[in-house]
Amino acid sequence: TAARPSQGDEAMPTETEIQQALQKAHQQFRGTKEGKNADYIPYLATVNPNLFGLALVTVEGKVYTVGDATSPFPIESLSKPFTLARLMDEVGAKKVEDKIGVDATGQPFNSIVAIEMNEDHRAGNPLVNAGAITSVSMIPAATPEARWKKLSDNFNDFAGADLPVNQEVYKSETETNTRNQSISALLDSYKVLGSPREQALDLYTRQCSVNVTATQLATMGATLANGGTNPVTGKKVVSPDTARRTLALMATNGLYESTGEWLYQAGVPAKSGVGGGIVAVVPGRYAIAAFSPPLDKAGNSVRSQRAISQVVNSLGDNLY
Ligand code: DON
Repeated sequence: TAARPSQGDEAMPTETEIQQALQKAHQQFRGTKEGKNADYIPYLATVNPNLFGLALVTVEGKVYTVGDATSPFPIESLSKPFTLARLMDEVGAKKVEDKIGVDATGQPFNSIVAIEMNEDHRAGNPLVNAGAITSVSMIPAATPEARWKKLSDNFNDFAGADLPVNQEVYKSETETNTRNQSISALLDSYKVLGSPREQALDLYTRQCSVNVTATQLATMGATLANGGTNPVTGKKVVSPDTARRTLALMATNGLYESTGEWLYQAGVPAKSGVGGGIVAVVPGRYAIAAFSPPLDKAGNSVRSQRAISQVVNSLGDNLY
């Protein structure tokens, strides 16, 4: 397992410490009223804003939960690092760097300006919409169905569970994703997509509509914490090198334009989604996931950010 840069071989927190830290954070932030459900995707505006769950899964496969940790919610942008990991494992880290780019965009997740400003008009980063649509388009497969099977199997392997597509979300997003249509058209005009743009956008929209629970999401993160092998099922999903690089990208662009602020507060790589989920990873130790729908202006769950930051800091596991 990977060593944590600033923590050396400090002992893992005890089971009681972990459970208490989760309970304390849940209690402290469940009354938080700041933030607002995403409403640019009609379905998300209808989700109960009081839902709030936390889950922590260790590299030994131990699972801790509090609150609504088994409520399914759309994975949205949390799909991006896992599809990126699949792509990187299949085509190599160099190709991801060359064809997509690996620097932070510093721009909102659905930025068009970021594509225009990139010198080669690539997406710039795999964890924003443009980069995720490009990632999907580059997954080697003979047909869109085969490509979807790879994406879906990959999520399931990371989670150690069968994650279904939420058909209502898929329909809702398909009917309203004009912004992503523009992004795909722009990428297509610069000839940076690996397969036809309508197909890439459809598969991207479908992967955003996959339902996940906080517990499943924490297991997905724990697979990255554990060097690419799912600690609950024992299945090797991606290589240790892919897992490491995926975490590096989460550290630099996981929460969009507020990633710097996040790293400053929480000190660990993380990824968010507009469904209200966030997963944060302490390499070699555990992943913690939170779910609560109300978001801040950048599109990151308010309660999830606060709870994760507090748990990680109270356990002394912040890397920076
Ligand atoms: O493409 C979109 O806009 C959504 N399906 C996902 C965006 C997202 O989750 C950004 N998150 N914070």
